[in-house]
Amino acid sequence: MPPQADPAALAATHTAAFTQSRPWTAQEFAELLADRFTHLTGDARAFALVREIAGEAELLTIATHPDHQRQGLGRQIMQSWMKTAAERGATEAFLEVAQDNTAAQALYSACGFGLVGIRKAYYPRPTTAAADALLMKRRLP
Ligand SMILES: CC(C)(COP(=O)(O)OP(=O)(O)OC[C@H]1O[C@@H](n2cnc3c(N)ncnc32)[C@H](O)[C@@H]1OP(=O)(O)O)[C@@H](O)C(=O)NCCC(=O)NCCS
Repeated sequence: MPPQADPAALAATHTAAFTQSRPWTAQEFAELLADRFTHLTGDARAFALVREIAGEAELLTIATHPDHQRQGLGRQIMQSWMKTAAERGATEAFLEVAQDNTAAQALYSACGFGLVGIRKAYYPRPTTAAADALLMKRRLP
């Protein structure tokens, strides 16, 4: 397994980055990395996991370690996975983002994603009401 695909390192970054929702475990990352439809872009500083099936690429998660945020890595990773997915034949990309996650929404809008739907009260929150999920899409390339 290449070093950038170390499930424990990815889980550590996910835990550091996701403060509002449950981070994924090393076991969950290991299972996703073993799935032939799921692709990793980046490394433990900043990474995305994308599932590509039947011409559609779904961003499963993206995280930049807090030590490396606001340095352009998230934007770089987004451009990189979209390019690779398009080269493999994907024509559409979609993702879900919590309505209270304005940083990620700004990133996705800047990368060409637009709102196509809302799932009410989709993400549980520890101290407040569940947050809506915004479904966003764009065409590839
Ligand atoms: C969302 C995330 C991946 C962005 O990663 P990053 O490496 O910091 O992103 P970049 O430095 O490339 O920033 C790209 C753009 O995203 C937006 N952005 C990133 N962080 C932001 C913040 N804290 N507040 C507002 N906008 C933000 C800005 O538009 C930024 O462009 P700018 O720097 O030119 O203003 C990172 O904040 C993160 O890991 N968050 C926690 C996990 C998460 O929420 N993942 C998405 C779940 S759907």
